[in-house]
Amino acid sequence: MRFDVLTLFPEMFSGYLGESLLHKAIQRQLIQVHLHNIRDWSRDEKHHKVDDRPYGGGPGMVMKVEPVVECVEAVRPLAPDPGHLIFLTPQGRKLDQRLVEEWAQKPRLMLLCGRYEGVDQRALDLLQPEEVSIGDYILNGGEVAAMAVMDAVLRLVPGVLGDEESCVHDSFSSGNRLLEGAQYTRPQEFRGLRVPEILMSGNHAAIARWRSEQSYLKTRHRRADLLEKNEESCS
Ligand code: 6GU
Repeated sequence: MRFDVLTLFPEMFSGYLGESLLHKAIQRQLIQVHLHNIRDWSRDEKHHKVDDRPYGGGPGMVMKVEPVVECVEAVRPLAPDPGHLIFLTPQGRKLDQRLVEEWAQKPRLMLLCGRYEGVDQRALDLLQPEEVSIGDYILNGGEVAAMAVMDAVLRLVPGVLGDEESCVHDSFSSGNRLLEGAQYTRPQEFRGLRVPEILMSGNHAAIARWRSEQSYLKTRHRRADLLEKNEESCS
């Protein structure tokens, strides 16, 4: 799978891409990540300006239409598949695991990171990206959101995780849209807190039952909205 990230801050990705799981996936050629600096498509030879004041006034700056459109148009032909263009913006549809699963099937994603107060609307009218937000809060730009998208999608690419099964059981994955219950590892006791006896019983059927009950109880307590969604999709 190939990712093309279009950003004004490509350096923000280096730490994340060097991280071990990702680094290995890149080395093993399971994924490719190409970073493109939108500033390279600035038409302003002198200051490489990529933003300007909004028409009609108001605070902040708007990303200019030319560098954004021309960057996407230059990056598209760099691979045979045209790629699915995603624009990271707090105005977008909220990201969820279903969307992540859909994107994980695609051979190529192009992640366009917005900055400042937004992007000139004509860039969006021309490029028609899928507009996505990662939640109801404001980040300084789309870069952190793009890393969240890559992280969520990547772990669904076969071979990227050590154990290929391990993501099927995660919270929100297609097999189970409830929250995961508590986990324990050694020691059996720490500061008087003991691991629940059932987990050390060796009774696998009872453990599975206990875990799914814990999962349900945690979901009902913290995220009752997920239970309602589950009922809809099961009926
Ligand atoms: Cl995708 N961008 C920004 N700037 N803020 C966000 C976001 C994206 N998703 C949530 N908040």
